[in-house]
This record gives sequence, structure tokens and C-alpha cells, in this order.
Amino acid sequence: MLVLGIETSCDETGIGLYDGERGILAHAVYSQVAIHARYGGVVPELASRDHVRKTLPLIKQTLAEADLKLSDLDGIAYTAGPGLVGALLVGSSVARSLAFGLNIPALGVHHMEGHLLSPMLDDLPPAMPFLALLVSGGHTMLVDVQALGCYEILGESLDDAAGEAFDKVAKMLGLGYPGGPAIEKLAQSGSPERFRFPRPMTNRPGLDFSFSGLKTFTLNTINDHLDDPTLAPDVARAFVDAVVDTFLIKCRRAVKQTGHKTLVVSGGVSANKQLRAGLSELADKIGISVHYPKFEFCTDNGAMIAYAGYCRLLSSTGEPLGYHVQPRWSLDTLQAP
Ligand code: KG4
Ligand code: ZN
Repeated sequence: MLVLGIETSCDETGIGLYDGERGILAHAVYSQVAIHARYGGVVPELASRDHVRKTLPLIKQTLAEADLKLSDLDGIAYTAGPGLVGALLVGSSVARSLAFGLNIPALGVHHMEGHLLSPMLDDLPPAMPFLALLVSGGHTMLVDVQALGCYEILGESLDDAAGEAFDKVAKMLGLGYPGGPAIEKLAQSGSPERFRFPRPMTNRPGLDFSFSGLKTFTLNTINDHLDDPTLAPDVARAFVDAVVDTFLIKCRRAVKQTGHKTLVVSGGVSANKQLRAGLSELADKIGISVHYPKFEFCTDNGAMIAYAGYCRLLSSTGEPLGYHVQPRWSLDTLQAP
């Protein structure tokens, strides 16, 4: 079965082609970062309009790369939420119209299920059940994954998502948007000793997160040292150390609570090498295995949507002609196909 995946939930147009026997055949991501950079964050209306311009050309490009035609497709998966409503509607409309014209099934996919399954596109995919740490720009969650669609959220952020905190701290330091990669780079030359930032919510039980206080602590530190030109790398390092440590503490706790032997880490922030190094070290220490997506599948992409759609289309005939998108959509309301 050959499935086309369409991702348009935020500021990336992502297209992927997944084949049940051959895996990912081609994928392409068009990032709108240049459009939103001057505003310091994503402008929803500009995002929708650009998805309108890019989605069809990118589908054509991806099919051409795989030497395939629209008529070769067996199904189309699109991100139906959570995300920006206008952006979601573009991908959904294109997907539904194409599927109607081709007389093949279409299926709306949960964006975070896409992220959750993205490490499955690896050469050595993890086997369910496992514990998942989902860390993106909009969500931070620890999830008990029993099977496809059987998810229990064990903990999540009560305020900012981890990626959002990276983006806001980058803004405070005058770095561009998105901030994650810029902070990661700057932190490499920062001192791990100069500052120690708080590890939020680690001194009380539970698996929830909160990054808003850490963000304010970071801002206060910057304001207290305004005349220090060497400050930025040290602040970036202290911030990343605090975020990574927080995840290590919570993952260790979640492994103990669930007894899982496999940890899967995905979403944009899972591209962070310091986080990966910390988690891999922890995994060795406590005797579990840890899996990440390939770097190209950490941030938003169409390949993960194609794959999630493929998994669900295996036991589904698609949706009726009407469709709706869900800007807010909890992962634990999903059901097994
Ligand atoms: O998963 P994603 O592409 O979009 C959402 O679903 O939100 O995640 C984007 C987020 C952004 O906040 C970005 O700053 C962060 O992932 N990110 C990183 C890194 N690369 C992307 N954060 C830390 N380190 C990175 N290397
Ligand atoms: Zn995402």
C-alpha cells in the first residue's frame, strides 16, 4: 500500500510517500521560516496562505522524485490536528479533494501520533509497548504507549512546551526563530559552571512539566547582567542543562513507574544532541534502550504523517466525504484502529 502524507499543521509544508514494503520512498519539507522570522514567531494567516502556494507543487515534486504518479497512490493521510486551524484546513482540503478525485481513502492523522511513530522509520525501529517522551514546539508529554492508538498521558507541560521555551529564550538572547538549533549551538561554547538554573517540578512527585518559571528565571539572569557581553553562551548552556536534567529526572521516574524497557523520544526538541547524549547515558545506566527519529524526521515532516496514515489505513476504509480539523486534540482520545 502506497500512502501520501500531507503535513500543514504549522509553519512547514511536509510531504511524504510511504510504501508498506519499501518504506519511505521520498519526502520533502518546505519551511516557512523566512516568512515568519521578521515577526519573531509564526503568523497563522501567513502560514495558511503559504501552504496554499506550496502544497500541490511539493506533492508533484515528491511524486516525481520517487518516479510515481498520483494514480499509483492507495491512500492519503493528512494532519487533522492539533495545530493552526487555517493551516490544517489547507492540507485537509487538498488531501480530501485528491482522494475524492482518485477514488481512494483519505484519513486525518493526529500530529503528535505522527511524531510518536516517527522513530519507526528507523532501520532498527522500537517495538511497542514503550514509554514516549514527546517534545515539540507545542507539546511536552510523557506517554505510556501500549499499542497503536492506545496511549495514556502520564505527564505533560502545565504551561509552555519545551520547544516554545527554547524559542522564547532564543528571542531574549536576540537569536532568530526557531530558537532551538541556535540555542543548542550557542550552549556548546557556554560554561556549565557559571549559572545553575532551576529544574522545574523535579522536587515534587509526578510526571508533569512546567517551563514558564525557568523562562522567567532566564530573563531575570539576563537582566541582571546586561553589561556583560560574554553572557549569552553561558545563559544558553545553563538553560539547556536545566531542560535536559529535567527530562532525565522525569524519564527515569517514568521508567520506574511503568517498568518499560524502551524509551522513544521524538518531536522537534529530540534533535537536540545534548538531550540525546544525556538520555542515552541514562538509558545505559538504568538498562533500557532509547530510540530517536532520524534527524530529518524530528521536526515537522510529511513522512511521519504518511507512516501514521499507513498504519491506520491498514485496518480502515478511510473517512466519509465530510471532514473536520481539530486545532485542539488530546492524544489520549485516540483509539486503536
Ligand atoms: O515538532 P516540531 O517541528 O513542531 C511542533 O510540532 O511544534 O518542533 C519545533 C520545535 C521548535 O520549538 C524548535 O525550536 C525546537 O522544536 N527544536 C529544537 C531543536 N530543533 C528544533 N529545540 C532544541 N534543540 C534543537 N536542536
Ligand atoms: Zn510537530
